[in-house]
Amino acid sequence: MTAFRTLLPFLQPYRWHMALVLASNLLVMTTSLLAPWLISSIVGVVRVAPDQALSNGVLVIAAALASAYALRGLGLYITVYVSHIAAWRVCHDLRLAVYTQLQRMSPRFFASRQTGELASRVLKDTDHVEPIVADVVHEFLASALITLGTVVVLLTLNPILALVGLLPAIPATWLVWRDRHRMMAAFDAEERSGGQLSGLIHDQIGGIREIQIFNREHLALERVRAVSHQLAHQQIGARRLMAALQPVVEGATGASIVLVVLLGGWLAQTGQLTVETLVAFILYLIGFYQPLYMLVGVSEALQRGLAGLRRVDEMLQLEPDVVDSPDGVVLGRANGAITFKGISFAYRDDLPVLQRIDLQIAAGQTVALVGPTGAGKSTFAGLIPRFYDSQAGQILLDGVDLRQIRLDTLRRNISMVTQDVFLFNGTVQENIRFGNPDATDAEVVAAAQAANAHEFIQHLPQGYATEIGERGVRLSGGQKQRLSIARHPQGRADSDPR
Ligand SMILES: Nc1ncnc2c1ncn2[C@@H]1O[C@H](COP(=O)(O)OP(=O)(O)OP(=O)(O)O)[C@@H](O)[C@H]1O
Ligand SMILES: [Mg+2]
Repeated sequence: MTAFRTLLPFLQPYRWHMALVLASNLLVMTTSLLAPWLISSIVGVVRVAPDQALSNGVLVIAAALASAYALRGLGLYITVYVSHIAAWRVCHDLRLAVYTQLQRMSPRFFASRQTGELASRVLKDTDHVEPIVADVVHEFLASALITLGTVVVLLTLNPILALVGLLPAIPATWLVWRDRHRMMAAFDAEERSGGQLSGLIHDQIGGIREIQIFNREHLALERVRAVSHQLAHQQIGARRLMAALQPVVEGATGASIVLVVLLGGWLAQTGQLTVETLVAFILYLIGFYQPLYMLVGVSEALQRGLAGLRRVDEMLQLEPDVVDSPDGVVLGRANGAITFKGISFAYRDDLPVLQRIDLQIAAGQTVALVGPTGAGKSTFAGLIPRFYDSQAGQILLDGVDLRQIRLDTLRRNISMVTQDVFLFNGTVQENIRFGNPDATDAEVVAAAQAANAHEFIQHLPQGYATEIGERGVRLSGGQKQRLSIARHPQGRADSDPR
Protein backbone atom coordinates (compact mmCIF):
# COMPACT_ATOMS: atom_id res chain seq x y z
CA MET A 1 0.00 0.00 0.00
CA THR A 2 2.90 2.36 0.69
CA ALA A 3 3.84 1.70 -2.91
CA PHE A 4 0.50 3.04 -4.08
CA ARG A 5 1.01 6.12 -1.92
CA THR A 6 4.15 6.85 -3.95
CA LEU A 7 2.18 6.48 -7.14
CA LEU A 8 -0.77 8.64 -6.19
CA PRO A 9 0.78 12.08 -6.80
CA PHE A 10 1.97 10.84 -10.19
CA LEU A 11 -1.53 9.65 -11.11
CA GLN A 12 -3.10 12.92 -10.05
CA PRO A 13 -2.51 14.79 -13.37
CA TYR A 14 -4.11 11.92 -15.30
CA ARG A 15 -7.18 11.49 -13.11
CA TRP A 16 -9.56 12.27 -16.00
CA HIS A 17 -7.88 9.68 -18.17
CA MET A 18 -8.28 7.21 -15.34
CA ALA A 19 -11.92 8.14 -14.84
CA LEU A 20 -12.65 7.62 -18.54
CA VAL A 21 -10.88 4.27 -18.43
CA LEU A 22 -12.88 3.23 -15.41
CA ALA A 23 -16.14 4.23 -17.09
CA SER A 24 -15.34 2.29 -20.24
CA ASN A 25 -14.26 -0.62 -18.13
CA LEU A 26 -17.61 -0.57 -16.36
CA LEU A 27 -19.22 -0.75 -19.81
CA VAL A 28 -17.12 -3.80 -20.61
CA MET A 29 -18.02 -5.32 -17.28
CA THR A 30 -21.74 -4.79 -17.72
CA THR A 31 -21.64 -6.50 -21.09
CA SER A 32 -19.60 -9.32 -19.55
CA LEU A 33 -22.27 -9.89 -16.94
CA LEU A 34 -25.03 -9.61 -19.49
CA ALA A 35 -23.66 -12.19 -21.94
CA PRO A 36 -24.12 -15.34 -19.79
CA TRP A 37 -27.64 -14.29 -18.98
CA LEU A 38 -28.48 -13.74 -22.67
CA ILE A 39 -26.83 -16.99 -23.70
CA SER A 40 -28.63 -18.99 -21.05
CA SER A 41 -32.00 -17.44 -21.80
CA ILE A 42 -31.83 -18.95 -25.28
CA VAL A 43 -32.40 -22.31 -23.63
CA GLY A 44 -35.73 -21.08 -22.33
CA VAL A 45 -36.73 -19.47 -25.61
CA VAL A 46 -35.90 -22.52 -27.69
CA ARG A 47 -37.79 -24.84 -25.33
CA VAL A 48 -40.89 -22.69 -25.27
CA ALA A 49 -41.19 -22.59 -29.06
CA PRO A 50 -39.57 -25.76 -30.37
CA ASP A 51 -41.18 -25.94 -33.84
CA GLN A 52 -41.02 -22.34 -35.15
CA ALA A 53 -38.39 -21.56 -37.82
CA LEU A 54 -36.73 -18.66 -36.04
CA SER A 55 -38.58 -17.18 -33.16
CA ASN A 56 -38.62 -13.49 -32.36
CA GLY A 57 -37.14 -14.37 -29.02
CA VAL A 58 -34.04 -15.79 -30.68
CA LEU A 59 -33.75 -12.73 -32.89
CA VAL A 60 -34.01 -10.39 -29.91
CA ILE A 61 -31.36 -12.33 -28.05
CA ALA A 62 -29.08 -12.33 -31.10
CA ALA A 63 -29.53 -8.57 -31.52
CA ALA A 64 -28.91 -7.97 -27.82
CA LEU A 65 -25.78 -10.13 -27.94
CA ALA A 66 -24.54 -8.30 -31.02
CA SER A 67 -24.97 -4.93 -29.31
CA ALA A 68 -23.37 -6.24 -26.15
CA TYR A 69 -20.28 -7.35 -28.04
CA ALA A 70 -20.14 -4.13 -30.06
CA LEU A 71 -20.29 -2.05 -26.87
CA ARG A 72 -17.71 -4.33 -25.33
CA GLY A 73 -15.40 -3.73 -28.30
CA LEU A 74 -15.79 0.02 -28.01
CA GLY A 75 -15.25 -0.12 -24.26
CA LEU A 76 -12.11 -2.21 -24.68
CA TYR A 77 -10.72 0.16 -27.31
CA ILE A 78 -11.07 3.15 -25.00
CA THR A 79 -9.81 1.20 -22.02
CA VAL A 80 -6.69 -0.08 -23.72
CA TYR A 81 -5.74 3.13 -25.53
CA VAL A 82 -6.51 5.77 -22.92
CA SER A 83 -5.05 3.76 -20.07
CA HIS A 84 -1.76 3.46 -21.94
CA ILE A 85 -1.67 7.18 -22.63
CA ALA A 86 -1.89 7.80 -18.90
CA ALA A 87 0.51 4.97 -18.09
CA TRP A 88 3.39 5.96 -20.35
CA ARG A 89 3.08 9.57 -19.26
CA VAL A 90 3.21 8.52 -15.62
CA CYS A 91 6.27 6.47 -16.52
CA HIS A 92 7.88 9.45 -18.17
CA ASP A 93 7.22 11.58 -15.09
CA LEU A 94 8.62 8.85 -12.83
CA ARG A 95 11.79 8.55 -14.90
CA LEU A 96 12.36 12.28 -14.65
CA ALA A 97 11.65 12.24 -10.92
CA VAL A 98 14.18 9.46 -10.31
CA TYR A 99 16.77 11.12 -12.53
CA THR A 100 16.27 14.49 -10.82
CA GLN A 101 16.71 12.78 -7.49
CA LEU A 102 19.96 11.21 -8.72
CA GLN A 103 21.25 14.62 -9.77
CA ARG A 104 20.87 15.82 -6.21
CA MET A 105 23.02 13.05 -4.81
CA SER A 106 26.63 13.73 -3.91
CA PRO A 107 29.68 11.81 -5.16
CA ARG A 108 29.56 9.86 -1.90
CA PHE A 109 26.37 8.16 -3.11
CA PHE A 110 27.74 7.39 -6.56
CA ALA A 111 30.90 5.96 -5.07
CA SER A 112 28.76 3.16 -3.66
CA ARG A 113 26.65 2.49 -6.75
CA GLN A 114 27.36 1.32 -10.27
CA THR A 115 26.42 3.38 -13.28
CA GLY A 116 24.78 0.51 -15.13
CA GLU A 117 22.79 -0.44 -12.07
CA LEU A 118 21.52 3.11 -11.62
CA ALA A 119 20.62 3.31 -15.30
CA SER A 120 18.54 0.20 -14.80
CA ARG A 121 16.83 1.86 -11.81
CA VAL A 122 15.88 4.87 -13.97
CA LEU A 123 14.77 2.84 -16.98
CA LYS A 124 13.53 -0.60 -16.04
CA ASP A 125 11.99 0.00 -12.64
CA THR A 126 9.88 2.84 -13.95
CA ASP A 127 8.87 0.75 -16.97
CA HIS A 128 7.57 -1.96 -14.68
CA VAL A 129 5.23 0.57 -13.14
CA GLU A 130 3.56 1.15 -16.52
CA PRO A 131 1.34 -1.95 -16.45
CA ILE A 132 0.16 -1.00 -12.99
CA VAL A 133 -1.25 2.23 -14.31
CA ALA A 134 -2.29 0.84 -17.70
CA ASP A 135 -3.98 -2.33 -16.52
CA VAL A 136 -3.87 -3.00 -12.85
CA VAL A 137 -5.60 0.05 -11.41
CA HIS A 138 -8.74 -0.20 -13.52
CA GLU A 139 -8.66 -3.97 -13.78
CA PHE A 140 -8.52 -4.05 -10.04
CA LEU A 141 -11.58 -1.86 -9.70
CA ALA A 142 -13.40 -3.69 -12.48
CA SER A 143 -12.49 -7.04 -10.96
CA ALA A 144 -13.82 -5.92 -7.62
CA LEU A 145 -17.08 -4.95 -9.25
CA ILE A 146 -17.32 -8.10 -11.38
CA THR A 147 -16.62 -10.32 -8.38
CA LEU A 148 -19.17 -8.53 -6.28
CA GLY A 149 -21.68 -8.43 -9.15
CA THR A 150 -21.27 -12.15 -9.82
CA VAL A 151 -21.75 -13.04 -6.16
CA VAL A 152 -24.94 -10.98 -6.06
CA VAL A 153 -26.23 -12.51 -9.30
CA LEU A 154 -25.44 -16.04 -8.11
CA LEU A 155 -27.12 -15.48 -4.76
CA THR A 156 -30.19 -14.13 -6.52
CA LEU A 157 -30.32 -17.04 -8.94
CA ASN A 158 -30.18 -19.63 -6.17
CA PRO A 159 -28.73 -18.93 -2.71
CA ILE A 160 -27.98 -22.53 -1.73
CA LEU A 161 -26.34 -23.39 -5.02
CA ALA A 162 -24.36 -20.14 -4.78
CA LEU A 163 -23.01 -20.93 -1.32
CA VAL A 164 -21.99 -24.43 -2.38
CA GLY A 165 -20.47 -23.20 -5.65
CA LEU A 166 -18.45 -20.45 -4.02
CA LEU A 167 -17.11 -22.66 -1.24
CA PRO A 168 -13.86 -23.68 -3.05
CA ALA A 169 -13.02 -20.02 -3.56
CA ILE A 170 -12.30 -19.59 0.13
CA PRO A 171 -9.23 -21.85 0.54
CA ALA A 172 -7.96 -20.87 -2.94
CA THR A 173 -8.15 -17.17 -2.14
CA TRP A 174 -6.37 -17.76 1.12
CA LEU A 175 -3.52 -19.68 -0.60
CA VAL A 176 -3.03 -16.98 -3.21
CA TRP A 177 -3.17 -14.19 -0.67
CA ARG A 178 -0.57 -15.94 1.47
CA ASP A 179 1.90 -16.27 -1.46
CA ARG A 180 1.56 -12.72 -2.70
CA HIS A 181 4.55 -11.36 -0.74
CA ARG A 182 6.77 -14.20 -1.83
CA MET A 183 5.98 -13.42 -5.46
CA MET A 184 6.78 -9.77 -5.03
CA ALA A 185 10.03 -10.60 -3.25
CA ALA A 186 10.96 -12.97 -6.09
CA PHE A 187 10.39 -10.30 -8.73
CA ASP A 188 12.31 -7.81 -6.64
CA ALA A 189 15.30 -10.12 -6.36
CA GLU A 190 15.14 -10.73 -10.11
CA GLU A 191 15.25 -7.02 -10.89
CA ARG A 192 18.11 -6.38 -8.49
CA SER A 193 20.17 -9.08 -10.15
CA GLY A 194 19.27 -7.56 -13.51
CA GLY A 195 20.60 -4.23 -12.27
CA GLN A 196 23.75 -5.91 -11.02
CA LEU A 197 24.31 -7.54 -14.41
CA SER A 198 23.74 -4.26 -16.16
CA GLY A 199 26.30 -2.62 -13.85
CA LEU A 200 28.84 -5.35 -14.48
CA ILE A 201 28.50 -5.27 -18.26
CA HIS A 202 28.71 -1.48 -18.26
CA ASP A 203 31.89 -1.64 -16.20
CA GLN A 204 33.51 -4.31 -18.32
CA ILE A 205 32.74 -2.65 -21.62
CA GLY A 206 34.26 0.54 -20.20
CA GLY A 207 37.40 -1.46 -19.39
CA ILE A 208 37.49 -3.52 -22.58
CA ARG A 209 41.06 -2.42 -23.43
CA GLU A 210 42.32 -3.55 -20.04
CA ILE A 211 40.46 -6.84 -20.41
CA GLN A 212 42.03 -7.41 -23.83
CA ILE A 213 45.59 -6.37 -23.00
CA PHE A 214 45.63 -8.54 -19.88
CA ASN A 215 43.92 -11.40 -21.74
CA ARG A 216 41.17 -11.45 -19.16
CA GLU A 217 38.26 -12.14 -21.53
CA HIS A 218 37.74 -15.48 -19.91
CA LEU A 219 37.66 -14.08 -16.40
CA ALA A 220 35.31 -11.28 -17.45
CA LEU A 221 33.02 -13.81 -19.11
CA GLU A 222 33.00 -15.93 -15.97
CA ARG A 223 31.90 -12.98 -13.88
CA VAL A 224 29.11 -12.20 -16.34
CA ARG A 225 28.18 -15.87 -16.41
CA ALA A 226 27.89 -16.04 -12.62
CA VAL A 227 25.60 -13.01 -12.35
CA SER A 228 23.61 -13.98 -15.44
CA HIS A 229 23.17 -17.47 -14.05
CA GLN A 230 21.90 -16.08 -10.77
CA LEU A 231 19.50 -13.88 -12.73
CA ALA A 232 18.18 -16.82 -14.76
CA HIS A 233 17.77 -18.79 -11.55
CA GLN A 234 15.73 -16.01 -10.00
CA GLN A 235 13.67 -15.52 -13.15
CA ILE A 236 12.79 -19.20 -13.12
CA GLY A 237 12.10 -19.08 -9.38
CA ALA A 238 9.62 -16.25 -9.81
CA ARG A 239 7.82 -18.16 -12.58
CA ARG A 240 7.74 -21.28 -10.44
CA LEU A 241 5.79 -19.39 -7.81
CA MET A 242 3.44 -18.05 -10.48
CA ALA A 243 3.03 -21.49 -12.03
CA ALA A 244 2.37 -23.16 -8.67
CA LEU A 245 -0.69 -21.00 -8.26
CA GLN A 246 -2.24 -22.15 -11.52
CA PRO A 247 -3.33 -25.58 -10.17
CA VAL A 248 -4.87 -23.77 -7.22
CA VAL A 249 -6.86 -21.50 -9.51
CA GLU A 250 -7.87 -24.30 -11.85
CA GLY A 251 -8.59 -26.70 -9.00
CA ALA A 252 -10.91 -24.23 -7.31
CA THR A 253 -12.70 -23.40 -10.56
CA GLY A 254 -13.05 -27.11 -11.36
CA ALA A 255 -14.27 -28.00 -7.88
CA SER A 256 -16.86 -25.22 -8.02
CA ILE A 257 -18.21 -26.38 -11.35
CA VAL A 258 -18.30 -30.03 -10.31
CA LEU A 259 -20.20 -29.13 -7.13
CA VAL A 260 -22.67 -27.01 -9.07
CA VAL A 261 -23.13 -29.69 -11.75
CA LEU A 262 -23.87 -32.29 -9.05
CA LEU A 263 -26.16 -30.23 -6.85
CA GLY A 264 -27.60 -28.13 -9.69
CA GLY A 265 -28.13 -31.20 -11.85
CA TRP A 266 -30.05 -32.88 -9.09
CA LEU A 267 -32.09 -29.72 -8.42
CA ALA A 268 -32.91 -29.39 -12.12
CA GLN A 269 -33.81 -33.10 -12.39
CA THR A 270 -36.21 -32.82 -9.48
CA GLY A 271 -37.73 -29.69 -10.94
CA GLN A 272 -36.46 -27.33 -8.26
CA LEU A 273 -34.33 -25.37 -10.74
CA THR A 274 -34.89 -24.43 -14.39
CA VAL A 275 -32.35 -25.51 -16.97
CA GLU A 276 -31.57 -21.94 -18.05
CA THR A 277 -30.84 -20.95 -14.46
CA LEU A 278 -28.41 -23.85 -14.21
CA VAL A 279 -26.68 -22.88 -17.48
CA ALA A 280 -26.47 -19.24 -16.43
CA PHE A 281 -25.12 -20.30 -13.07
CA ILE A 282 -22.29 -22.31 -14.59
CA LEU A 283 -21.41 -19.56 -17.07
CA TYR A 284 -21.23 -16.99 -14.29
CA LEU A 285 -19.12 -19.27 -12.18
CA ILE A 286 -16.61 -19.77 -15.01
CA GLY A 287 -16.24 -16.00 -15.26
CA PHE A 288 -15.92 -15.58 -11.52
CA TYR A 289 -12.45 -16.87 -10.76
CA GLN A 290 -10.29 -14.82 -13.11
CA PRO A 291 -11.26 -11.46 -11.63
CA LEU A 292 -11.11 -12.93 -8.15
CA TYR A 293 -7.44 -13.83 -8.56
CA MET A 294 -6.74 -10.52 -10.18
CA LEU A 295 -8.14 -9.05 -7.01
CA VAL A 296 -6.00 -11.04 -4.62
CA GLY A 297 -2.91 -10.33 -6.65
CA VAL A 298 -2.08 -13.43 -8.65
CA SER A 299 -1.02 -11.20 -11.50
CA GLU A 300 2.54 -11.05 -12.68
CA ALA A 301 2.11 -7.48 -13.87
CA LEU A 302 0.87 -6.43 -10.46
CA GLN A 303 3.60 -8.12 -8.44
CA ARG A 304 6.35 -7.02 -10.79
CA GLY A 305 4.95 -3.51 -10.89
CA LEU A 306 4.66 -3.29 -7.12
CA ALA A 307 8.24 -4.49 -6.76
CA GLY A 308 9.34 -1.86 -9.31
CA LEU A 309 7.36 0.80 -7.54
CA ARG A 310 9.03 -0.09 -4.29
CA ARG A 311 12.46 0.38 -5.84
CA VAL A 312 11.37 3.65 -7.43
CA ASP A 313 10.15 4.76 -4.02
CA GLU A 314 13.51 3.77 -2.55
CA MET A 315 15.21 6.13 -4.99
CA LEU A 316 12.77 8.96 -4.39
CA GLN A 317 13.25 8.65 -0.63
CA LEU A 318 17.04 9.00 -0.85
CA GLU A 319 18.30 11.81 1.34
CA PRO A 320 21.04 13.82 -0.34
CA ASP A 321 23.88 14.16 2.18
CA VAL A 322 24.83 17.56 0.81
CA VAL A 323 21.73 19.64 1.40
CA ASP A 324 21.19 22.77 -0.64
CA SER A 325 19.71 25.76 1.12
CA PRO A 326 17.25 27.14 -1.44
CA ASP A 327 16.70 30.28 0.69
CA GLY A 328 20.44 30.65 1.17
CA VAL A 329 22.70 33.51 0.22
CA VAL A 330 22.64 34.19 -3.52
CA LEU A 331 26.26 34.67 -4.36
CA GLY A 332 27.24 36.95 -7.22
CA ARG A 333 30.86 37.06 -8.27
CA ALA A 334 32.85 36.07 -5.19
CA ASN A 335 36.12 37.75 -4.28
CA GLY A 336 37.55 34.38 -3.46
CA ALA A 337 38.83 34.61 0.12
CA ILE A 338 38.65 31.07 1.49
CA THR A 339 38.98 30.10 5.15
CA PHE A 340 39.17 26.53 6.45
CA LYS A 341 38.37 26.49 10.17
CA GLY A 342 39.07 23.26 12.03
CA ILE A 343 38.01 21.08 9.12
CA SER A 344 37.88 17.34 9.71
CA PHE A 345 36.67 14.95 7.06
CA ALA A 346 36.48 11.20 6.52
CA TYR A 347 34.87 9.14 3.76
CA ARG A 348 34.44 6.37 6.29
CA ASP A 349 34.21 6.92 10.03
CA ASP A 350 37.21 4.73 10.80
CA LEU A 351 39.54 6.36 8.26
CA PRO A 352 40.08 10.10 8.83
CA VAL A 353 41.43 11.88 5.73
CA LEU A 354 41.58 15.49 6.90
CA GLN A 355 41.99 16.38 10.57
CA ARG A 356 41.49 19.85 12.04
CA ILE A 357 42.73 21.78 9.01
CA ASP A 358 43.03 25.54 9.43
CA LEU A 359 43.97 27.57 6.38
CA GLN A 360 43.45 31.10 5.14
CA ILE A 361 43.59 31.78 1.43
CA ALA A 362 43.35 35.44 0.47
CA ALA A 363 41.37 36.52 -2.59
CA GLY A 364 43.49 36.18 -5.71
CA GLN A 365 46.16 34.13 -3.96
CA THR A 366 47.52 31.06 -5.72
CA VAL A 367 47.90 28.03 -3.49
CA ALA A 368 49.50 24.68 -4.28
CA LEU A 369 48.88 21.68 -2.06
CA VAL A 370 51.78 19.27 -2.12
CA GLY A 371 51.79 15.86 -0.56
CA PRO A 372 52.10 12.13 -1.12
CA THR A 373 49.47 10.28 -3.05
CA GLY A 374 46.33 9.67 -1.05
CA ALA A 375 47.20 12.47 1.38
CA GLY A 376 43.86 14.21 0.80
CA LYS A 377 44.64 17.00 -1.69
CA SER A 378 41.75 16.22 -4.06
CA THR A 379 39.50 15.68 -1.05
CA PHE A 380 40.48 19.12 0.25
CA ALA A 381 39.65 20.71 -3.10
CA GLY A 382 36.36 18.81 -3.37
CA LEU A 383 35.12 20.34 -0.13
CA ILE A 384 35.01 23.81 -1.67
CA PRO A 385 32.28 23.10 -4.30
CA ARG A 386 30.61 20.95 -1.58
CA PHE A 387 30.92 17.59 -3.31
CA TYR A 388 31.16 16.53 0.32
CA ASP A 389 30.46 18.32 3.57
CA SER A 390 33.05 18.10 6.32
CA GLN A 391 32.11 16.34 9.54
CA ALA A 392 33.58 19.10 11.70
CA GLY A 393 34.62 22.71 11.20
CA GLN A 394 33.58 25.41 8.80
CA ILE A 395 34.61 26.63 5.37
CA LEU A 396 34.00 30.29 4.65
CA LEU A 397 33.97 31.97 1.26
CA ASP A 398 34.29 35.74 1.63
CA GLY A 399 33.29 35.26 5.26
CA VAL A 400 30.08 33.27 4.53
CA ASP A 401 29.71 29.63 5.55
CA LEU A 402 29.47 27.52 2.40
CA ARG A 403 26.42 25.76 3.80
CA GLN A 404 24.53 29.06 3.84
CA ILE A 405 25.18 29.77 0.17
CA ARG A 406 22.76 28.59 -2.49
CA LEU A 407 24.58 25.70 -4.12
CA ASP A 408 24.19 26.69 -7.77
CA THR A 409 25.49 30.19 -7.10
CA LEU A 410 28.46 28.80 -5.16
CA ARG A 411 29.40 26.40 -7.95
CA ARG A 412 29.08 29.13 -10.56
CA ASN A 413 32.16 30.64 -8.94
CA ILE A 414 34.26 27.52 -9.20
CA SER A 415 36.14 26.05 -12.12
CA MET A 416 37.71 22.67 -11.87
CA VAL A 417 40.09 20.70 -14.03
CA THR A 418 40.30 17.28 -12.45
CA GLN A 419 42.93 14.56 -12.53
CA ASP A 420 40.60 12.23 -14.36
CA VAL A 421 39.11 14.28 -17.15
CA PHE A 422 35.52 13.53 -18.04
CA LEU A 423 34.23 14.56 -21.43
CA PHE A 424 30.76 13.86 -22.75
CA ASN A 425 29.88 11.94 -25.87
CA GLY A 426 29.35 14.66 -28.48
CA THR A 427 31.31 17.14 -30.56
CA VAL A 428 34.34 19.18 -29.52
CA GLN A 429 32.21 22.30 -29.70
CA GLU A 430 29.47 20.87 -27.48
CA ASN A 431 32.03 19.90 -24.88
CA ILE A 432 33.58 23.37 -24.80
CA ARG A 433 30.09 24.92 -24.57
CA PHE A 434 29.35 22.72 -21.55
CA GLY A 435 30.91 25.41 -19.36
CA ASN A 436 29.06 28.23 -21.09
CA PRO A 437 26.03 27.23 -23.14
CA ASP A 438 25.60 30.74 -24.53
CA ALA A 439 29.09 31.06 -25.97
CA THR A 440 29.21 32.19 -29.59
CA ASP A 441 31.31 30.26 -32.12
CA ALA A 442 34.00 32.92 -31.81
CA GLU A 443 34.02 32.57 -28.03
CA VAL A 444 34.35 28.82 -28.32
CA VAL A 445 37.38 29.27 -30.57
CA ALA A 446 38.81 31.88 -28.20
CA ALA A 447 38.42 29.50 -25.25
CA ALA A 448 40.14 26.75 -27.23
CA GLN A 449 42.99 29.09 -28.14
CA ALA A 450 43.43 30.12 -24.52
CA ALA A 451 43.70 26.45 -23.56
CA ASN A 452 46.15 25.68 -26.36
CA ALA A 453 43.59 23.36 -27.93
CA HIS A 454 42.73 25.26 -31.12
CA GLU A 455 45.74 23.89 -32.97
CA PHE A 456 44.91 20.21 -32.59
CA ILE A 457 41.16 20.78 -32.99
CA GLN A 458 41.79 22.26 -36.45
CA HIS A 459 43.51 19.06 -37.47
CA LEU A 460 40.62 16.83 -36.40
CA PRO A 461 38.58 15.44 -39.33
CA GLN A 462 35.59 17.75 -38.79
CA GLY A 463 37.34 20.39 -36.69
CA TYR A 464 35.07 21.70 -33.95
CA ALA A 465 32.24 19.43 -35.16
CA THR A 466 34.25 16.24 -34.61
CA GLU A 467 32.53 13.63 -32.44
CA ILE A 468 34.94 12.71 -29.65
CA GLY A 469 33.26 9.45 -28.54
CA GLU A 470 32.21 8.27 -25.11
CA ARG A 471 34.36 9.97 -22.44
CA GLY A 472 36.38 11.39 -25.32
CA VAL A 473 37.97 8.07 -26.28
CA ARG A 474 38.92 9.38 -29.72
CA LEU A 475 41.26 11.97 -28.23
CA SER A 476 44.70 11.66 -26.67
CA GLY A 477 45.17 12.14 -22.95
CA GLY A 478 46.70 15.59 -23.37
CA GLN A 479 43.99 16.62 -25.84
CA LYS A 480 41.31 15.63 -23.37
CA GLN A 481 43.00 17.66 -20.67
CA ARG A 482 43.19 20.74 -22.88
CA LEU A 483 39.55 20.42 -23.86
CA SER A 484 38.60 20.20 -20.20
CA ILE A 485 40.50 23.46 -19.62
CA ALA A 486 38.84 25.08 -22.63
CA ARG A 487 35.38 24.39 -21.26
CA HIS A 488 36.02 26.87 -18.45
CA PRO A 489 35.55 30.21 -20.15
CA GLN A 490 36.76 33.28 -18.27
CA GLY A 491 34.25 35.42 -16.45
CA ARG A 492 31.82 32.56 -15.94
CA ALA A 493 30.85 34.00 -12.55
CA ASP A 494 30.00 37.37 -14.06
CA SER A 495 26.68 36.17 -15.36
CA ASP A 496 23.76 36.88 -13.10
CA PRO A 497 23.14 33.76 -10.99
CA ARG A 498 19.48 34.54 -10.66
N1 LIG B 1 35.17 8.24 -2.65
C1 LIG B 1 36.03 7.79 -1.71
N2 LIG B 1 35.60 6.93 -0.78
C2 LIG B 1 36.43 6.48 0.17
N3 LIG B 1 37.72 6.84 0.28
C3 LIG B 1 38.21 7.69 -0.61
C4 LIG B 1 37.38 8.22 -1.66
N4 LIG B 1 38.15 9.05 -2.41
C5 LIG B 1 39.37 9.04 -1.84
N5 LIG B 1 39.42 8.24 -0.77
C6 LIG B 1 40.55 8.03 0.13
O1 LIG B 1 40.83 9.27 0.78
C7 LIG B 1 42.21 9.51 0.84
C8 LIG B 1 42.55 10.87 0.20
O2 LIG B 1 42.28 10.80 -1.19
P1 LIG B 1 42.58 12.00 -2.19
O3 LIG B 1 41.96 11.67 -3.48
O4 LIG B 1 42.12 13.27 -1.53
O5 LIG B 1 44.14 11.98 -2.27
P2 LIG B 1 45.12 12.95 -3.10
O6 LIG B 1 45.93 13.66 -2.09
O7 LIG B 1 44.37 13.76 -4.06
O8 LIG B 1 46.03 11.87 -3.83
P3 LIG B 1 46.71 11.95 -5.31
O9 LIG B 1 47.94 12.74 -5.18
O10 LIG B 1 46.99 10.52 -5.57
O11 LIG B 1 45.70 12.52 -6.24
C9 LIG B 1 42.89 8.33 0.17
O12 LIG B 1 43.34 7.47 1.18
C10 LIG B 1 41.80 7.66 -0.63
O13 LIG B 1 41.99 6.28 -0.63
MG1 LIG C 1 44.25 13.80 -6.15
